[in-house]
Amino acid sequence: MCGIIGVTGNGPVVPRLIDSLKRLEYRGYDSAGVAAMVDGAVERRRAQGKIRNLEAVLAEQPLTASVGIGHTRWATHGAPTTANAHPHKAGRVTLVHNGIIENFAELKAELAAEGHVFESQTDTEVIAHLLDAELNTGRAPLEAFKVTLDRLTGAYALAVLIDGQDDLILGARRGSPLVVGWGEDEMYLGSDALAVGPFTQKISYLEEGDYVAVTRSGAQMFDVTGSPVERAVVQVSASSAMVEKGEYRHFMEKEIHEQPDSVQHTLSEYLDLVTGKAKPQAVDFAALDRIQIVACGTAFYAGQIARYAFEKLAGLPCDVEIASEFRYRSPAVSPRTLAVAVSQSGETADTLASLTWCKAQGLKTAAVVNVHSSSMAREAEVLWPTHAGPEIGVASTKAFTTQLAGLFLLTLVLAKLRGRLTAEQETAYLAELRSLPNKTQKVLALEPQVEAWSQRFANKHHALFLGRGVHYPIALEGALKLKEISYIHAEAYPAGELKHGPLALVDEDMPVVTIAPNDQLIEKLKSNMQEVRARGGELYVFADGDVHIEESAFVHVIRLPGGSNGALSPILHTVTLQMLSYHAALQKGTDVDKPRNLAKSVTVE
Ligand code: F6R
Repeated sequence: MCGIIGVTGNGPVVPRLIDSLKRLEYRGYDSAGVAAMVDGAVERRRAQGKIRNLEAVLAEQPLTASVGIGHTRWATHGAPTTANAHPHKAGRVTLVHNGIIENFAELKAELAAEGHVFESQTDTEVIAHLLDAELNTGRAPLEAFKVTLDRLTGAYALAVLIDGQDDLILGARRGSPLVVGWGEDEMYLGSDALAVGPFTQKISYLEEGDYVAVTRSGAQMFDVTGSPVERAVVQVSASSAMVEKGEYRHFMEKEIHEQPDSVQHTLSEYLDLVTGKAKPQAVDFAALDRIQIVACGTAFYAGQIARYAFEKLAGLPCDVEIASEFRYRSPAVSPRTLAVAVSQSGETADTLASLTWCKAQGLKTAAVVNVHSSSMAREAEVLWPTHAGPEIGVASTKAFTTQLAGLFLLTLVLAKLRGRLTAEQETAYLAELRSLPNKTQKVLALEPQVEAWSQRFANKHHALFLGRGVHYPIALEGALKLKEISYIHAEAYPAGELKHGPLALVDEDMPVVTIAPNDQLIEKLKSNMQEVRARGGELYVFADGDVHIEESAFVHVIRLPGGSNGALSPILHTVTLQMLSYHAALQKGTDVDKPRNLAKSVTVE
């Protein structure tokens, strides 16, 4: 997660870029840089570390211009050095980027073969070279930009300067946020409302695939097909844009849509995106014989899912327990157990108490937490951060998917150390993980279909969620989301358990939400679906793209894009269930972000 700003105005731009970057430092501060147009040629200043280091560089080598771009970096591809700091430059092109270009290695090889010389290890630099190459074919800037964008796979928000174009900033967005800010005879591009907050409160939120040409007098916007579009100008309060809803109706909606970004940010904590390898961890995994996960609510379900991976891939026994039970049970733990607390807030009283108890027993302790200064982060010996960013909606969404992504990567590290993962398997899993932000974005595009379903849930009093294997905890999470924010009673069952009792509940009135991944249990799941249909139950099935399920008046199917989703399936299916509960709650008109009787951080028992 990096921060971007661009300004084309009349006065000195660099102090304003710095002002904006300081507000964006929450997105990363491994390095920072600015570029500005000086007499038709772009000049850069960059520094490793925080913005104040960049200010020191600028004090030595001032830059005076009225058009410029800036960036604060959270390193993914390449170490946090000055050479890897943005803006990156190739020929006439200088640009800043937030996101990850998944096909950068192929593009880089192709460009290198054509004689392009690279000065950084970043994925970003290939975009500058590609665009410069397109300009050199004689294409106009906008056309060259579009051709370049079409060659990129992955996520990006971009701001681009071109030598000789002294009143133009090009911008584009796919998978990472970007806004256009409207001023008086002055225009802006930024990662969010906060970035442009010092200059304007009039914002247009670019949509997925949009690109834009910004000049002092306005912005020309285009959609993903290249057709001109207009995006609404909205008035925001910039003072606290970080904790504001921006273009969304609720924080929960915003947080659901932030998942490609937050998952990517979390992945880069554990994965070296240059080498494609998982980063080493400060835990002597070899000394362990068991993992004990403690957590509450949604975080507990993340732990349940992690257990499947820890046992299947790493072959290490793993127990998962609700913290409020664990802490009062006097559990028998072996001294070689690693106790792992999973928590968004890092403050949940029961989870914290369980962690403290484990520590007092002499166990090794780790905490997977989103608030890095929290009590659990300080209490545990090892901190495994997630990078969901602030989660304001009481119902946990992006914290959960980042927990799943982080825990899965840790499993791979452990599995490798225990000699349970071949190099080919590791490469395949890591490649899958790298495609996760992109795939999440594609799942988000199913929202209109999910919304249409949600209308049929609004007048229901009960719903049943079914899953099998690793998707059973996902069914539990789906049911929790629905009851929590729409107040519709929902139960989740492992589908094979239906006939042992819950089938008695099924009638024409009970929607049965089924998670149907293409895994080894799919045929068994289909039999369970037949059991539901035979009792008159109506099925709402979320299926992997290549699962064959016949649709009918009472069997509705939404297919996730692509074929089988493999190891990523639980994460991607979660996103559909989040959207379902969100829209059901909208239909019912409940207080989505602050559901009755609940609180975000449960610091009491
Ligand atoms: C459900 C939800 C809660 C939390 C639980 C634990 O949507 O948000 O179930 O998951 O209260 O909170 P943390 O993760 O902060 O320990």
